[in-house]
Amino acid sequence: MTTDPYEHDAAPALHPFPAGWYFVASRAAIGKRKLIGKTWLGGRIVAWCDDAGAIRVADAACPHLGSDLGPETGGRVRDGRLVCPFHGYEYDIGGRCVATPYAPPPRSARLDLFETRELEGLVFAWHGIGGREPRWELPAPGGGADDWGDPEFWSVRFPGHPQETTENSVDLAHLRYVHGYDAVSAAGPVEVEGARLTSRFDFRRSHTVAGIRLFAWDVSAVTHVHGLGYSLVEVREHSIGMDTRLWVLATPVDGALVELTLVSRVRRITRPRRPIVGLRFLPAGPRTRLMNRIVIAAQRRDVMQDVAIWGRKRYRPRPHLCRSDGEIGVYRRYCEQFYPGGRVCGGRGGEPVSASIDPGDGRRDPG
Ligand code: FES
Ligand SMILES: [Fe+2]
Repeated sequence: MTTDPYEHDAAPALHPFPAGWYFVASRAAIGKRKLIGKTWLGGRIVAWCDDAGAIRVADAACPHLGSDLGPETGGRVRDGRLVCPFHGYEYDIGGRCVATPYAPPPRSARLDLFETRELEGLVFAWHGIGGREPRWELPAPGGGADDWGDPEFWSVRFPGHPQETTENSVDLAHLRYVHGYDAVSAAGPVEVEGARLTSRFDFRRSHTVAGIRLFAWDVSAVTHVHGLGYSLVEVREHSIGMDTRLWVLATPVDGALVELTLVSRVRRITRPRRPIVGLRFLPAGPRTRLMNRIVIAAQRRDVMQDVAIWGRKRYRPRPHLCRSDGEIGVYRRYCEQFYPGGRVCGGRGGEPVSASIDPGDGRRDPG
Protein backbone atom coordinates (compact mmCIF):
# COMPACT_ATOMS: atom_id res chain seq x y z
CA MET A 1 0.00 0.00 0.00
CA THR A 2 1.32 3.39 -0.94
CA THR A 3 1.29 6.52 1.14
CA ASP A 4 2.46 8.75 -1.69
CA PRO A 5 -0.61 10.26 -3.34
CA TYR A 6 1.37 10.97 -6.52
CA GLU A 7 2.95 7.57 -6.95
CA HIS A 8 0.35 6.28 -9.43
CA ASP A 9 -0.09 9.65 -11.04
CA ALA A 10 3.53 10.25 -11.94
CA ALA A 11 3.51 11.40 -15.56
CA PRO A 12 6.40 10.21 -17.73
CA ALA A 13 8.67 13.18 -18.22
CA LEU A 14 9.42 14.51 -21.68
CA HIS A 15 12.93 13.89 -22.99
CA PRO A 16 14.70 17.06 -21.79
CA PHE A 17 16.54 17.95 -25.00
CA PRO A 18 14.50 17.62 -28.20
CA ALA A 19 16.37 18.07 -31.50
CA GLY A 20 16.41 21.58 -32.89
CA TRP A 21 17.99 24.99 -33.22
CA TYR A 22 18.40 26.74 -29.87
CA PHE A 23 19.28 30.30 -29.08
CA VAL A 24 22.79 30.97 -27.79
CA ALA A 25 23.09 34.78 -27.63
CA SER A 26 22.83 37.83 -29.84
CA ARG A 27 25.72 38.79 -32.09
CA ALA A 28 25.84 42.09 -30.21
CA ALA A 29 26.30 40.34 -26.84
CA ILE A 30 29.02 38.01 -28.18
CA GLY A 31 30.78 40.89 -29.95
CA LYS A 32 30.72 43.05 -26.83
CA ARG A 33 31.98 40.38 -24.43
CA LYS A 34 34.17 38.58 -27.05
CA LEU A 35 33.64 35.27 -25.21
CA ILE A 36 30.63 33.94 -23.41
CA GLY A 37 30.10 30.65 -21.59
CA LYS A 38 26.80 29.11 -20.64
CA THR A 39 25.02 25.97 -19.58
CA TRP A 40 23.01 24.94 -22.60
CA LEU A 41 21.06 21.72 -23.13
CA GLY A 42 22.72 19.96 -20.26
CA GLY A 43 26.30 20.85 -21.22
CA ARG A 44 28.67 23.79 -21.12
CA ILE A 45 29.27 25.77 -24.29
CA VAL A 46 31.34 28.77 -25.28
CA ALA A 47 30.65 31.28 -28.06
CA TRP A 48 33.23 33.71 -29.30
CA CYS A 49 34.01 35.88 -32.30
CA ASP A 50 37.24 36.73 -34.05
CA ASP A 51 38.34 40.15 -35.28
CA ALA A 52 36.65 39.60 -38.65
CA GLY A 53 33.31 39.01 -36.94
CA ALA A 54 33.11 35.24 -37.46
CA ILE A 55 31.22 33.56 -34.61
CA ARG A 56 31.79 30.01 -33.31
CA VAL A 57 29.96 27.93 -30.76
CA ALA A 58 31.83 24.99 -29.21
CA ASP A 59 31.67 22.53 -26.35
CA ALA A 60 33.39 24.32 -23.47
CA ALA A 61 35.66 21.41 -22.50
CA CYS A 62 39.25 21.90 -23.65
CA PRO A 63 40.47 18.89 -25.68
CA HIS A 64 43.76 18.90 -23.73
CA LEU A 65 42.81 18.07 -20.13
CA GLY A 66 39.23 19.24 -20.05
CA SER A 67 39.32 22.70 -18.47
CA ASP A 68 36.23 24.83 -19.04
CA LEU A 69 37.11 27.44 -21.66
CA GLY A 70 34.53 30.00 -20.52
CA PRO A 71 35.39 33.45 -19.17
CA GLU A 72 34.21 32.41 -15.67
CA THR A 73 37.20 30.04 -15.53
CA GLY A 74 39.63 32.50 -17.08
CA GLY A 75 39.23 31.64 -20.77
CA ARG A 76 39.76 34.57 -23.11
CA VAL A 77 40.03 35.55 -26.75
CA ARG A 78 43.36 36.92 -27.94
CA ASP A 79 43.92 37.92 -31.57
CA GLY A 80 40.76 36.05 -32.49
CA ARG A 81 41.97 32.83 -30.82
CA LEU A 82 40.31 31.16 -27.88
CA VAL A 83 42.91 30.64 -25.14
CA CYS A 84 42.48 27.96 -22.46
CA PRO A 85 43.04 29.16 -18.87
CA PHE A 86 44.69 25.90 -17.75
CA HIS A 87 47.80 25.46 -19.97
CA GLY A 88 47.31 28.12 -22.62
CA TYR A 89 46.37 26.04 -25.66
CA GLU A 90 45.11 28.38 -28.38
CA TYR A 91 42.27 27.51 -30.76
CA ASP A 92 41.51 29.29 -34.02
CA ILE A 93 38.02 30.10 -35.29
CA GLY A 94 37.98 26.72 -37.09
CA GLY A 95 38.44 24.95 -33.73
CA ARG A 96 42.02 23.78 -34.42
CA CYS A 97 44.69 24.02 -31.76
CA VAL A 98 47.25 26.30 -33.40
CA ALA A 99 49.64 27.10 -30.54
CA THR A 100 50.65 26.12 -27.03
CA PRO A 101 53.09 28.06 -24.80
CA TYR A 102 55.68 25.27 -24.57
CA ALA A 103 55.49 22.83 -27.48
CA PRO A 104 54.13 22.36 -30.99
CA PRO A 105 50.32 22.07 -30.91
CA PRO A 106 48.95 18.50 -31.03
CA ARG A 107 47.31 18.15 -34.43
CA SER A 108 44.49 16.05 -33.05
CA ALA A 109 43.42 18.69 -30.51
CA ARG A 110 40.24 20.18 -31.96
CA LEU A 111 37.25 21.78 -30.35
CA ASP A 112 33.85 20.18 -30.68
CA LEU A 113 32.06 22.77 -32.80
CA PHE A 114 28.32 23.19 -33.14
CA GLU A 115 26.51 23.96 -36.38
CA THR A 116 25.62 27.62 -36.02
CA ARG A 117 23.17 29.93 -37.77
CA GLU A 118 22.59 33.64 -37.44
CA LEU A 119 19.24 35.27 -38.13
CA GLU A 120 18.72 39.01 -37.70
CA GLY A 121 21.62 39.18 -35.24
CA LEU A 122 20.43 36.16 -33.21
CA VAL A 123 22.85 33.23 -32.98
CA PHE A 124 21.51 29.67 -32.81
CA ALA A 125 23.24 26.32 -32.49
CA TRP A 126 21.98 22.92 -33.53
CA HIS A 127 21.30 20.04 -31.16
CA GLY A 128 20.77 16.72 -32.96
CA ILE A 129 19.66 13.52 -31.26
CA GLY A 130 22.69 11.19 -31.23
CA GLY A 131 24.83 13.92 -32.79
CA ARG A 132 22.82 14.00 -36.03
CA GLU A 133 23.28 16.79 -38.56
CA PRO A 134 20.73 19.63 -38.91
CA ARG A 135 17.46 18.42 -40.39
CA TRP A 136 16.02 21.79 -41.33
CA GLU A 137 17.00 25.44 -41.66
CA LEU A 138 15.66 28.53 -39.94
CA PRO A 139 14.13 30.72 -42.65
CA ALA A 140 14.55 34.49 -42.74
CA PRO A 141 11.35 36.28 -41.70
CA GLY A 142 9.15 37.46 -44.60
CA GLY A 143 8.47 41.13 -45.21
CA GLY A 144 12.05 42.27 -45.76
CA ALA A 145 14.74 43.40 -43.36
CA ASP A 146 14.45 47.17 -43.85
CA ASP A 147 12.86 49.70 -41.62
CA TRP A 148 12.79 47.68 -38.44
CA GLY A 149 13.73 49.37 -35.18
CA ASP A 150 16.38 47.99 -32.83
CA PRO A 151 15.51 44.84 -30.89
CA GLU A 152 14.51 44.73 -27.24
CA PHE A 153 15.56 41.64 -25.26
CA TRP A 154 14.23 40.04 -22.14
CA SER A 155 14.90 36.59 -20.58
CA VAL A 156 13.54 34.56 -17.73
CA ARG A 157 14.46 31.13 -16.27
CA PHE A 158 12.06 28.72 -14.63
CA PRO A 159 11.44 24.96 -14.31
CA GLY A 160 9.99 24.02 -17.67
CA HIS A 161 10.34 22.42 -21.08
CA PRO A 162 10.30 23.93 -24.59
CA GLN A 163 7.46 21.64 -25.71
CA GLU A 164 5.29 22.94 -22.90
CA THR A 165 6.10 26.61 -23.52
CA THR A 166 5.63 26.33 -27.30
CA GLU A 167 2.30 24.54 -26.80
CA ASN A 168 0.82 27.89 -25.76
CA SER A 169 1.03 29.10 -29.35
CA VAL A 170 -1.78 26.73 -30.34
CA ASP A 171 -3.62 26.98 -27.02
CA LEU A 172 -6.01 29.81 -27.86
CA ALA A 173 -8.23 29.19 -24.83
CA HIS A 174 -5.49 30.34 -22.45
CA LEU A 175 -5.15 33.69 -24.26
CA ARG A 176 -8.50 34.76 -22.92
CA TYR A 177 -8.41 32.86 -19.67
CA VAL A 178 -4.86 33.69 -18.51
CA HIS A 179 -4.09 36.92 -20.37
CA GLY A 180 -7.55 38.45 -20.61
CA TYR A 181 -7.58 38.97 -24.40
CA ASP A 182 -10.96 39.60 -26.02
CA ALA A 183 -12.49 38.24 -29.19
CA VAL A 184 -9.86 35.50 -29.59
CA SER A 185 -10.43 33.48 -32.75
CA ALA A 186 -8.38 31.17 -34.95
CA ALA A 187 -7.75 32.64 -38.39
CA GLY A 188 -7.32 29.25 -40.08
CA PRO A 189 -6.20 25.74 -39.15
CA VAL A 190 -2.83 24.99 -37.63
CA GLU A 191 -0.60 23.90 -40.52
CA VAL A 192 2.26 21.45 -40.21
CA GLU A 193 4.86 20.65 -42.80
CA GLY A 194 7.93 18.75 -41.64
CA ALA A 195 9.54 20.77 -38.85
CA ARG A 196 7.40 23.86 -39.50
CA LEU A 197 4.15 24.63 -37.74
CA THR A 198 2.08 27.74 -38.40
CA SER A 199 -0.84 29.00 -36.37
CA ARG A 200 -2.90 32.15 -36.99
CA PHE A 201 -5.23 33.95 -34.66
CA ASP A 202 -6.88 37.30 -34.04
CA PHE A 203 -7.66 39.03 -30.76
CA ARG A 204 -8.20 42.35 -29.04
CA ARG A 205 -6.38 43.53 -25.98
CA SER A 206 -6.39 46.71 -23.99
CA HIS A 207 -3.40 48.18 -22.27
CA THR A 208 -4.14 49.98 -19.03
CA VAL A 209 -1.86 51.94 -16.76
CA ALA A 210 -3.12 52.95 -13.28
CA GLY A 211 -6.62 51.94 -14.32
CA ILE A 212 -6.60 54.19 -17.40
CA ARG A 213 -7.04 52.47 -20.71
CA LEU A 214 -4.18 53.72 -22.88
CA PHE A 215 -4.54 51.50 -25.91
CA ALA A 216 -7.04 49.13 -27.36
CA TRP A 217 -5.16 46.91 -29.74
CA ASP A 218 -6.77 45.01 -32.54
CA VAL A 219 -4.35 42.27 -33.45
CA SER A 220 -3.72 39.52 -36.02
CA ALA A 221 -0.87 37.16 -35.15
CA VAL A 222 0.88 34.46 -37.17
CA THR A 223 3.17 32.13 -35.23
CA HIS A 224 5.92 30.33 -37.15
CA VAL A 225 7.34 27.47 -35.11
CA HIS A 226 10.50 25.78 -36.44
CA GLY A 227 11.23 23.18 -33.80
CA LEU A 228 10.67 23.69 -30.10
CA GLY A 229 13.44 26.25 -29.55
CA TYR A 230 12.34 28.76 -32.18
CA SER A 231 9.06 30.62 -32.61
CA LEU A 232 8.60 33.86 -34.50
CA VAL A 233 5.28 35.64 -34.02
CA GLU A 234 4.46 38.20 -36.69
CA VAL A 235 1.96 40.61 -35.23
CA ARG A 236 -0.13 43.14 -37.10
CA GLU A 237 -1.90 45.77 -34.98
CA HIS A 238 -4.66 47.13 -37.21
CA SER A 239 -5.83 50.36 -35.54
CA ILE A 240 -2.36 52.01 -35.51
CA GLY A 241 -0.99 50.04 -38.44
CA MET A 242 1.95 48.66 -36.45
CA ASP A 243 3.96 45.54 -37.32
CA THR A 244 5.94 43.65 -34.71
CA ARG A 245 8.23 40.65 -34.89
CA LEU A 246 8.35 38.80 -31.63
CA TRP A 247 10.74 35.89 -31.19
CA VAL A 248 10.01 33.46 -28.39
CA LEU A 249 13.13 31.36 -27.89
CA ALA A 250 12.96 28.50 -25.40
CA THR A 251 16.31 26.96 -24.51
CA PRO A 252 16.69 24.04 -22.10
CA VAL A 253 19.40 24.81 -19.58
CA ASP A 254 20.14 21.69 -17.53
CA GLY A 255 17.20 19.34 -18.00
CA ALA A 256 15.11 21.05 -15.32
CA LEU A 257 15.22 24.77 -16.13
CA VAL A 258 14.34 26.44 -19.38
CA GLU A 259 15.49 29.91 -20.38
CA LEU A 260 12.89 31.83 -22.33
CA THR A 261 14.16 34.81 -24.31
CA LEU A 262 11.86 37.35 -25.91
CA VAL A 263 13.15 39.57 -28.68
CA SER A 264 10.86 42.17 -30.20
CA ARG A 265 11.24 44.54 -33.13
CA VAL A 266 8.72 47.08 -34.34
CA ARG A 267 8.62 48.29 -37.92
CA ARG A 268 9.26 52.03 -38.12
CA ILE A 269 5.97 53.82 -37.51
CA THR A 270 6.04 56.77 -39.90
CA ARG A 271 2.34 57.54 -40.24
CA PRO A 272 0.20 55.95 -37.54
CA ARG A 273 -3.40 55.39 -38.61
CA ARG A 274 -4.66 56.95 -35.40
CA PRO A 275 -3.02 59.24 -32.85
CA ILE A 276 -1.13 57.31 -30.19
CA VAL A 277 -1.74 58.67 -26.71
CA GLY A 278 1.27 60.65 -25.49
CA LEU A 279 3.40 59.77 -28.53
CA ARG A 280 1.78 61.72 -31.28
CA PHE A 281 4.34 64.55 -31.41
CA LEU A 282 7.40 62.31 -31.36
CA PRO A 283 9.45 61.75 -34.50
CA ALA A 284 9.22 58.27 -36.05
CA GLY A 285 12.49 56.93 -34.54
CA PRO A 286 11.75 57.60 -30.84
CA ARG A 287 8.08 56.73 -31.37
CA THR A 288 9.04 53.31 -32.78
CA ARG A 289 11.46 52.73 -29.89
CA LEU A 290 8.87 53.64 -27.30
CA MET A 291 6.23 51.46 -28.89
CA ASN A 292 8.71 48.55 -28.87
CA ARG A 293 9.25 49.09 -25.14
CA ILE A 294 5.51 49.03 -24.60
CA VAL A 295 5.23 45.86 -26.71
CA ILE A 296 7.94 44.01 -24.79
CA ALA A 297 6.55 45.17 -21.44
CA ALA A 298 3.16 43.75 -22.41
CA GLN A 299 4.78 40.49 -23.55
CA ARG A 300 6.79 40.28 -20.36
CA ARG A 301 3.62 40.59 -18.34
CA ASP A 302 2.00 37.83 -20.40
CA VAL A 303 5.01 35.54 -20.04
CA MET A 304 5.13 36.01 -16.28
CA GLN A 305 1.48 34.97 -16.14
CA ASP A 306 2.43 31.88 -18.14
CA VAL A 307 5.52 31.20 -15.99
CA ALA A 308 3.32 30.96 -12.89
CA ILE A 309 1.64 28.01 -14.62
CA TRP A 310 4.57 26.54 -16.58
CA GLY A 311 6.82 26.46 -13.53
CA ARG A 312 4.44 24.21 -11.62
CA LYS A 313 2.71 22.12 -14.25
CA ARG A 314 3.34 18.46 -14.93
CA TYR A 315 3.31 17.09 -18.46
CA ARG A 316 0.14 15.16 -19.22
CA PRO A 317 0.81 12.62 -21.99
CA ARG A 318 -2.90 11.75 -22.02
CA PRO A 319 -4.70 15.01 -21.47
CA HIS A 320 -8.46 15.24 -21.17
CA LEU A 321 -9.19 17.55 -24.06
CA CYS A 322 -12.41 19.34 -24.88
CA ARG A 323 -13.70 20.43 -28.24
CA SER A 324 -11.88 23.76 -28.29
CA ASP A 325 -8.53 22.01 -27.67
CA GLY A 326 -8.40 20.31 -31.08
CA GLU A 327 -5.14 21.91 -32.17
CA ILE A 328 -3.25 20.68 -29.13
CA GLY A 329 -3.49 17.14 -30.53
CA VAL A 330 -2.10 18.38 -33.87
CA TYR A 331 0.72 20.13 -32.04
CA ARG A 332 1.67 17.08 -29.98
CA ARG A 333 1.87 14.87 -33.06
CA TYR A 334 4.08 17.54 -34.64
CA CYS A 335 6.39 17.40 -31.59
CA GLU A 336 7.06 13.65 -31.86
CA GLN A 337 9.61 14.15 -34.64
CA PHE A 338 12.02 15.95 -32.30
CA TYR A 339 12.56 13.02 -29.94
CA PRO A 340 14.62 9.82 -30.18
CA GLY A 341 12.73 7.42 -32.43
CA GLY A 342 10.20 10.12 -33.30
CA ARG A 343 8.54 10.13 -36.69
CA VAL A 344 8.39 13.13 -38.99
CA CYS A 345 4.76 14.07 -39.03
CA GLY A 346 2.43 16.51 -40.59
CA GLY A 347 1.03 17.28 -44.00
CA ARG A 348 4.12 17.05 -46.14
CA GLY A 349 3.28 18.43 -49.55
CA GLY A 350 1.07 21.11 -48.06
CA GLU A 351 -1.64 18.93 -46.55
CA PRO A 352 -2.43 20.29 -43.13
CA VAL A 353 -2.97 17.73 -40.42
CA SER A 354 -6.49 17.77 -39.08
CA ALA A 355 -7.38 16.96 -35.53
CA SER A 356 -9.95 14.39 -34.58
CA ILE A 357 -11.77 15.92 -31.72
CA ASP A 358 -13.54 14.14 -28.96
CA PRO A 359 -17.03 15.62 -28.97
CA GLY A 360 -17.32 15.20 -25.22
CA ASP A 361 -14.47 15.53 -22.79
CA GLY A 362 -13.37 11.90 -23.02
CA ARG A 363 -9.82 10.81 -22.51
CA ARG A 364 -7.70 10.72 -25.61
CA ASP A 365 -4.12 10.13 -26.40
CA PRO A 366 -2.76 12.79 -28.69
CA GLY A 367 0.24 10.64 -29.59
S1 FES B 1 43.19 21.87 -20.26
FE1 FES B 1 43.19 23.42 -21.77
S2 FES B 1 45.24 23.76 -22.16
FE2 FES B 1 45.27 22.18 -20.71
FE1 LIG C 1 0.57 32.76 -22.88
